Amino acid sequence: MNLDKEEILNFETHAHEWWNDRGPYKILHKLNPLRLKFITDRITLDGITVLDIGCGGGLLAEEMAKKGASVTGIDASKKTISVAKKHAQESKLKIDYQCITLNEYIEKTRKKFDCVICYELIEHVPDPQKLLEDINIISKNNSTLFLSTINRNIQSFIFAKILAEYFLKIIPKGTHKYEKFVKPSELSETLEGLSYNIEEITGMIFNPLIFDFELSSFTNINYFLYAKKNKK
Ligand SMILES: C[S@@+](CC[C@H](N)C(=O)[O-])C[C@H]1O[C@@H](n2cnc3c(N)ncnc32)[C@H](O)[C@@H]1O
Repeated sequence: MNLDKEEILNFETHAHEWWNDRGPYKILHKLNPLRLKFITDRITLDGITVLDIGCGGGLLAEEMAKKGASVTGIDASKKTISVAKKHAQESKLKIDYQCITLNEYIEKTRKKFDCVICYELIEHVPDPQKLLEDINIISKNNSTLFLSTINRNIQSFIFAKILAEYFLKIIPKGTHKYEKFVKPSELSETLEGLSYNIEEITGMIFNPLIFDFELSSFTNINYFLYAKKNKK
């Protein structure tokens, strides 16, 4: 099973705080408009099927559903999925949330998706290569993949781990393990081997002038990847 129980326990601890925009997930709340725009500037969500893997409390899943996508959100944390279900119900949004890992989901369904979202998950699984292989299995030909994660180098160690967790305290301590950060070249190599075309790799930085995050050619810390699955 491609699952780290310690990671899930960590997410369970903060599950009730998913929709608190000043709580442990405040950074995801702040980033959400940009994370959504990265998708909607590249594809039309209206009318397509989307699988949001490691969907958390549904911050992005809800926004995609509002744009007309038929969203399935899966997450291995039971408490997190309960929070996501309750919030979607309150927001009167129809989202298929399931507490399940991707490999379990593949075993129980034949469904394939037009688009897969894998935001801030790959750095939390024990076997990133297996996650990408499973994403390939669950994706239709000509489908799209949007992924975001953290690069692995000295700058990301200082900013995304030490500063973010211990000094700025913008994410809970212990959220990330440096050795699980993933280089864009590693992702590209695996995805190209699975017959994906890498359309774009774009960095995300905090711009103090506008006091907000923006896309950037600087990919050394946080970055997005956008890929298309080729017909075999
Ligand atoms: C950092 S959060 C990201 C949430 C969401 N993708 C977002 O960006 O707003 C990571 C989520 O992945 C879930 N998760 C961690 N390992 C998982 C696994 N192996 N399978 C499914 N979900 C997992 C956690 O429970 C948590 O909700």
